[in-house]
Amino acid sequence: MILITGASGNVGREVLKQTAEAAARTGDRVRAAFQATAGVVVPPGVETVALDYNEPETIRTALKGVDRVFLVGPPNSQLPALERKAADVIAHSNIRQLVKLSAMGGRDATFTRQHADSEDYIGSKGIPYTFLRPNGFMQNAVIYNARPINEHNAFFGSEGDGRVSQIDIRDVAAVAAKILTCPDPERDGHIGTAYTLTGPEALTNFEIAQMLSRELGRDIQFINLPPEQLRPALLGAGVPTWSADAILDLQRLYREGKAAAITDDVEQILGRAPTRFAEFLADHRSAFEVRQKAAS
Ligand SMILES: NC(=O)c1ccc[n+]([C@@H]2O[C@H](COP(=O)([O-])OP(=O)(O)OC[C@H]3O[C@@H](n4cnc5c(N)ncnc54)[C@H](OP(=O)(O)O)[C@@H]3O)[C@@H](O)[C@H]2O)c1
Repeated sequence: MILITGASGNVGREVLKQTAEAAARTGDRVRAAFQATAGVVVPPGVETVALDYNEPETIRTALKGVDRVFLVGPPNSQLPALERKAADVIAHSNIRQLVKLSAMGGRDATFTRQHADSEDYIGSKGIPYTFLRPNGFMQNAVIYNARPINEHNAFFGSEGDGRVSQIDIRDVAAVAAKILTCPDPERDGHIGTAYTLTGPEALTNFEIAQMLSRELGRDIQFINLPPEQLRPALLGAGVPTWSADAILDLQRLYREGKAAAITDDVEQILGRAPTRFAEFLADHRSAFEVRQKAAS
């Protein structure tokens, strides 16, 4: 039985979808964990369970009959503490594989350092792990930038002309699903291994603005702001102080060109190239047309 945590989230939702599809072929059973299960919709055949990392008993219940876990923590200041709590319970279970959603970047920025700490803790507990370290998600263009693009034909950041080899969450999920449903992860070299998951190209936000302009047929600008100007804008938009500073720190990493590396881990695991940004945009163009449609 495979347990997918964080199944309501951006990554967990897609991992659940693709793992359920793969499990239907391999005969594996899948359980999806949510903080609140009321009203959730899951793929056919998938069980649901309530799980809060702050409540160890709920983790123990969710783990009953489970031998593989996909672990995802929320992108906030609590991540290391929550994942430590999960690891403490998992270390005393019969899990033969923990696939943890981590991040590319090592200890170079706040968000990525959290994941590095969490990886170290999981390793120190002797849990058989596979770490997935994706670079920034292409979906951030929709989650964070669709609104300013639809309202102002512009999006904002302080990463300058730093290149980032962004990855499509659908590719991260495809890798997770393949590894979670692999009959012998030890033999296939997945245990004790970290994969760095990137897209096939490293683009600047100025290039992404050009791609958006071409795709949408209207002029979209990337406005690069100094961090001291972006910070009050983030705080004013309701972003908590810790998160605003972590976002600025990540933008600093991008600006310094430290997120531009391209790996072939996705292709090695999936046997196909990862999604290009232009393909991602073509698949998601409707997200950037909301206001235009309303106005026409
Ligand atoms: N954004 C990027 O570009 C990027 C790049 C690399 C890595 N990452 C990492 O990817 C991870 C996932 O990101 P995401 O966008 O999928 O996050 P997300 O949409 O916020 O999902 C987080 C999930 O964690 C669950 N959760 C929160 N608190 C919990 C608790 N106490 N107990 C159990 N579950 C809890 C949430 O459930 P509820 O819905 O019930 O709150 C949600 O399902 C993060 O760790 C982030 O650092 C992100």
